[in-house]
Amino acid sequence: MNAPQALTRWSNPGSSRVPFWAYTDPALYQRELDRIFYGRHWSYVGLAVEIPNVGDFKLTAIGERQVILVRDRVAPRERATDDGIRVLENRCAHRGVRFCQQPHGNARSFVCPYHQWTYKLNGELAGLPFKDGVKAQESGGECVQGGMPADFDMGAHGLTRLKVATVHGLVFASFDYGVEPLTDYLGPAVMPWLDRIFQGRTLTLLGTNRQRIPGNWKLMMENIKDPYHPGLLHTWFVTFGLWRADQKSRMVMDAQGRHAVMVSRRNEAAPAAAAVTAGVTSFKAGMTLHDDRLLDVVPEPWWTIPDPAQPGAQITPTVTMLTLFPGLIVQQQVNSLSTRQIVPRGPGSFDFVWTHFGFADDTPEMTRRRLRQANLFGPAGFVSADDGEVIELSQAGFRQWGEGGETLCELGGTGTEATEHMVTETLIRSMYAYWKKIVEP
Ligand SMILES: [Fe+2]
Repeated sequence: MNAPQALTRWSNPGSSRVPFWAYTDPALYQRELDRIFYGRHWSYVGLAVEIPNVGDFKLTAIGERQVILVRDRVAPRERATDDGIRVLENRCAHRGVRFCQQPHGNARSFVCPYHQWTYKLNGELAGLPFKDGVKAQESGGECVQGGMPADFDMGAHGLTRLKVATVHGLVFASFDYGVEPLTDYLGPAVMPWLDRIFQGRTLTLLGTNRQRIPGNWKLMMENIKDPYHPGLLHTWFVTFGLWRADQKSRMVMDAQGRHAVMVSRRNEAAPAAAAVTAGVTSFKAGMTLHDDRLLDVVPEPWWTIPDPAQPGAQITPTVTMLTLFPGLIVQQQVNSLSTRQIVPRGPGSFDFVWTHFGFADDTPEMTRRRLRQANLFGPAGFVSADDGEVIELSQAGFRQWGEGGETLCELGGTGTEATEHMVTETLIRSMYAYWKKIVEP
């Protein structure tokens, strides 16, 4: 079934029932790439601190298009307004070759291996062999053979250069120059939660993980918009009190419902109320850790901010999970911090790239603490391994039933409003309400 037909088969109004074909249909997936990842949206491509020096680059992707995040040379007088960060498509302007294969490195220029077309760090074509042909001796003397046409315009044959914007060291790019300014795109409801983690701070890189998860890319966004599951699926969270249904929590979303923040506060060593853990098979009452440094949580001053929702009040979450549509998750779970980038790989698969970070003024003890707590996350994380597995099982269930099925997403009703508790699937519904508008024929 092609996507236009599929979308007319959306049998329910609203967004609380998501048809299985939304996760499996190849034509719909192509439309998502065109309209979301290659369209008027901002996609996260990395942290500025990953490319600190001129020539530093990192290979990444937006949708299925590989792009290069690179630090360009900038003249001294322009440095106040230009940080030199460029994002270039990894596709040679000559014959379409994906010329860069190194995951990261430092380059003076980019050279395509096929015919050695050479590009500056800003993507401009710097030169190509035999542009002016070759000199040869003929009976009448020297002549020029071959070469590009005399009107060949070097300036018109650079790499595709994306629109780039950086906020607090997070770099975003878009193929569509008509995209709105980045801070407008993120919106005033979400920005305080990004400011809280990043504003005015110098980041340090602690490490990366990557994994390929055999499920549709939207399932990962759903997972982090779903405050209902962590206290049920994750033994680690429910047993050690890191995430339980009775915590003080807030579900925040932007005006369009596409981005969200789950804000929550850990129960300080409080025993779980019986009603919260009764019948929850993942709760292991007697479970303790041989190495309790994994839960050596130390509150940090920046956790407390003026409450964006209540003038004059303050708020001190221990957990904030930001989902920035379409493909970025920013995680603070107690002392562990990471970005997670979602790179779709066909309708039934995506790459999940984790970057764990800290701050330049962290003590060595805090750095070790962040690294230890990072063991909860990533492909084999004590918590996150569960998510990768259930996403795979979700996709398997959609495939085995086929097009006629749909998910049920009605905890807390069928609406899409912000809430002050976590017993709701409102953030998932709000994302699909936005998504529907974008992918509709
Ligand atoms: Fe989870």
